[in-house]
Amino acid sequence: MRPRIVVESHPRSRALISASGKDVARFRRDLLRWYSEHRRDLPWRKTRDPYRIWLSEIMLQQTRVAAVLDHYRIFLERFPNVQAVAAASEEAVLAAWSGLGYYRRARMLHQSAKELVQEHGSRFPRSSKTLQMLPGIGRYTAAAIASIAFAEPVAVVDGNVERVLQRLMGINLTTPQIWQHAQALLASSQPGDFNQAMMELGATVCVPREPKCPECPLQKSCATRQSRQSADRTITMGRRAARPGRSTLGKGRQVKKEIWCQLNQRDGSIRLVQRPKKASLMPGMWELPQSSEPPRPMPASAHWRTFRHTITITDYTVHVLRGTAPLPHKDVKGKWIAIDRISQIPITGLTRKILKAGSII
Ligand code: ADE
Repeated sequence: MRPRIVVESHPRSRALISASGKDVARFRRDLLRWYSEHRRDLPWRKTRDPYRIWLSEIMLQQTRVAAVLDHYRIFLERFPNVQAVAAASEEAVLAAWSGLGYYRRARMLHQSAKELVQEHGSRFPRSSKTLQMLPGIGRYTAAAIASIAFAEPVAVVDGNVERVLQRLMGINLTTPQIWQHAQALLASSQPGDFNQAMMELGATVCVPREPKCPECPLQKSCATRQSRQSADRTITMGRRAARPGRSTLGKGRQVKKEIWCQLNQRDGSIRLVQRPKKASLMPGMWELPQSSEPPRPMPASAHWRTFRHTITITDYTVHVLRGTAPLPHKDVKGKWIAIDRISQIPITGLTRKILKAGSII
């Protein structure tokens, strides 16, 4: 059967949607109905406050919904509005971001907040074009904020939307073509819901491996689904997911490292070291003293626990030692920090994980 929405090659290879207005209207209706029935109940979907939507979109860049939820709530308790972020020190913003990773996002958020307060009277620009002038807000984030908070009819394309569209069209599209299709399909009367529905579909149904086609509201419009059914064989599932198994960012590229950390506690304080302000990774953040080599000799009683921790492409095995066995080749002097002050300083995600496991924070 011919898919309802098909792509034809233009002489200059511009992909065009060739579908009747009726088909596109049905596509939008099916998608929006599915979204209203199946959408996850997420805190940023209960507000139109651009500050809250902006914060959610920045946190959701490179981070899964489940990992964002607690951080989002805690951040909002500490910083209920953009003025509160702007008035805080960068260190305080990083402290509230601690554990979410990709700390550059928090620095940009802080810079943006200051710019919004100083140059925009604490009001968010309403258009995606102007939003893109703020630090850390690219085309995708600007479109998400403008469509969700201000109903600007502008399409969002993230990795999930890209996969949905590739499969829907059944051929490999270039990035400009994907944005073009997303914009052409956008339901301009409900752009925020439409964009979130597309992202939601990609995150929960049209997933990279083993998509749940029988649950998909767009089955009838989907070229990939239809050719799979009629040919009764697996076909290329879009550029990103063409090869089953590992993606180029998959575990195959992971680097393994082993480190030793020291957990020293004394009179309600803990010894932490600040990373260099110029470090490429997590600059200025606080962590337990650590070394890439164990103490020699290693007192048998020193070993407390072993953790696994992943930062982007590096899988760490982390041995945590208690007591004062000196770590080699490292200035581990650090500073004694009162445990009740730790929530006010930026600590690394690994340090947070260890302190939580020890019921220290
Ligand atoms: N990913 C990023 N922002 C999102 C949103 N608002 N809804 C669903 N997935 C998202």
